[in-house]
Amino acid sequence: MATKDNSTSSEPVSAAVPGAGQSASAQPAVVRTKIYPITKYGAPVLEARTKPVEKFDDELAQLCEDMFASMYAASGVGLAAPQIGLGLRLAVIDVSLGKNPEAKLVLANPEIIQFEGEQREEEGCLSLPSFRGNVARPQYVTLRAQDATGKTYEMKGEGLLARAFCHEIDHLNGVLFIQYLGLLKRDLIRRRIRKLQKAGTW
Ligand code: NI
Repeated sequence: MATKDNSTSSEPVSAAVPGAGQSASAQPAVVRTKIYPITKYGAPVLEARTKPVEKFDDELAQLCEDMFASMYAASGVGLAAPQIGLGLRLAVIDVSLGKNPEAKLVLANPEIIQFEGEQREEEGCLSLPSFRGNVARPQYVTLRAQDATGKTYEMKGEGLLARAFCHEIDHLNGVLFIQYLGLLKRDLIRRRIRKLQKAGTW
């Protein structure tokens, strides 16, 4: 999910971050984090089925860290695996934009188990840069998911977090926020995207 200030970059770059282990072992002290380019609307993977996450190994942990890094690089508050071209039931969320380490959430095989209330706010998506629309979402959403180690957790989110839960789980079901917009607004966005695609700027 995109922030209000929707400046995105799809340039693949590599950033070095300090590694956690500074031990005397042969392990390098620097871990390479991969910044993935974000898949844009029109790519079939965004509307395709996704497979459950089954292996909770080091590779998955690295993928999650790369997804966080890619999301921060694009100034997003949520990123789902199809947005980096992977048909996996996996998403990351951080509504603090990297300011609070406790706000970092890995959602593997997530499902909504309860929701209540309603909120209407503008929503955006990193896969639809510069387009926004009003989408009604529940004010409170209780989620059940697994973290990067495979541990199941439940969490109740309110406001923006509840919205992010819904938005990212939608991605795993091939649903984009423009599908909630009125027909006129949705067609307008699609026409504008087609123009951008023709111009080679999408
Ligand atoms: Ni999105």
